[in-house]
Amino acid sequence: MIPTVLPDPDVFTAGTGEPSLRWGIVGPGWIAGAFVDALHRHTTQQVVAVASRSQDRAESFASEHGVEHTVVGVEALLARSDIDVVYIATPQSEHATVALAAIAAGKHVLVEKPFTVTADEARTVAAAARAAGVLAMEAMWSRYLPQASVIRKLIADGALGTVQSVLADHGQAIPFSPDHRLFRPELGGGALLDLGIYTLQFASMVLGNPSTVTARGTMTDTGVDAAATLILDHESGAQAALFTTILARTPMAASIAGTEGTIVLDGVFYAPTTLKVWGAEHGSTVLHWADPTGVQGFDALSWEATALARFVGDGRTESPLHTIDETVAVLETIDTARAQIADAHDRALAEAAR
Ligand SMILES: NC(=O)c1ccc[n+]([C@@H]2O[C@H](COP(=O)([O-])OP(=O)(O)OC[C@H]3O[C@@H](n4cnc5c(N)ncnc54)[C@H](OP(=O)(O)O)[C@@H]3O)[C@@H](O)[C@H]2O)c1
Repeated sequence: MIPTVLPDPDVFTAGTGEPSLRWGIVGPGWIAGAFVDALHRHTTQQVVAVASRSQDRAESFASEHGVEHTVVGVEALLARSDIDVVYIATPQSEHATVALAAIAAGKHVLVEKPFTVTADEARTVAAAARAAGVLAMEAMWSRYLPQASVIRKLIADGALGTVQSVLADHGQAIPFSPDHRLFRPELGGGALLDLGIYTLQFASMVLGNPSTVTARGTMTDTGVDAAATLILDHESGAQAALFTTILARTPMAASIAGTEGTIVLDGVFYAPTTLKVWGAEHGSTVLHWADPTGVQGFDALSWEATALARFVGDGRTESPLHTIDETVAVLETIDTARAQIADAHDRALAEAAR
């Protein structure tokens, strides 16, 4: 049953005993800039060095975001003894290679989403990290937001009864360019890997692994999935209905509905947002929740960094809130969905050519 007062969030407050790790940055593009700014503003973490494929870009990133050291190439970064953890924010196609090199150099890794392009790659990185005894974690920042802990508590307390459905969408209108990484298959482009993964990790957090994956979608002329609708069936009987596209900006909202209650996450659901919670009976009181921390937008990337530092301080080699096995399982679902969409597309083309 829905409580009269919503639970307090668990917050990864900085400066509460976590080690002040020394970070190296690989892939100094858009999100890396937001991540470094968030670390400076809201954590006790130290950003020591940035690696680019070009000295000019490394220097301009370092001066814009206040990073002391610059290097050219990943190997030069990994050779530094003053780096504990590497944040990998290259296009997805490079994630596995960079992560494996960093792990081989004895560094912990925080790898932007998607962790890798395929589940096979993720399994390889996971095995390497486990063998090396370093922490590997997907930078799925949604999992470390205060709101995620409120949702987890409500579900664990049985407030929703038996969960029946998860709905979520993530669409962005990306102007077409054959050079944009999202339209390039060789860089791991496509809606599912870049945007849809947020809906999939959300469904996975609530319902676990699906028993069946059914995907329909469309492809760009460049050969990546442009839009995808997924139906995930689960052994419990619950279903998830998920939508993603790189062609249109959707509400980016999400909901979880159970036999006794419902949680609605206002758009943008995977970032700091507001929640509404109500009971199953008509006319039930709507409870509202808003993040009390004041950390908004991409500044909330800071939570995952403090979480990682706390996990390292606790001697963990993976996130208890988002295990590597779960990261692999979500990529297995994406592998399946991408294959179904590509096969249907190929069959339709063959049919049209007859
Ligand atoms: N958590 C989030 O909210 C969020 C948001 C956006 C993106 N992301 C993820 O973060 C990653 C980076 O996304 P982004 O939008 O920041 O990308 P971006 O702006 O294009 O930056 C990626 C950087 O990676 C480097 N790079 C290394 N190898 C490359 C290659 N083969 N092709 C192109 N660039 C290469 C480039 O820097 P140099 O050339 O200087 O080395 C480039 O600036 C992606 O995995 C994406 O899914 C996460």
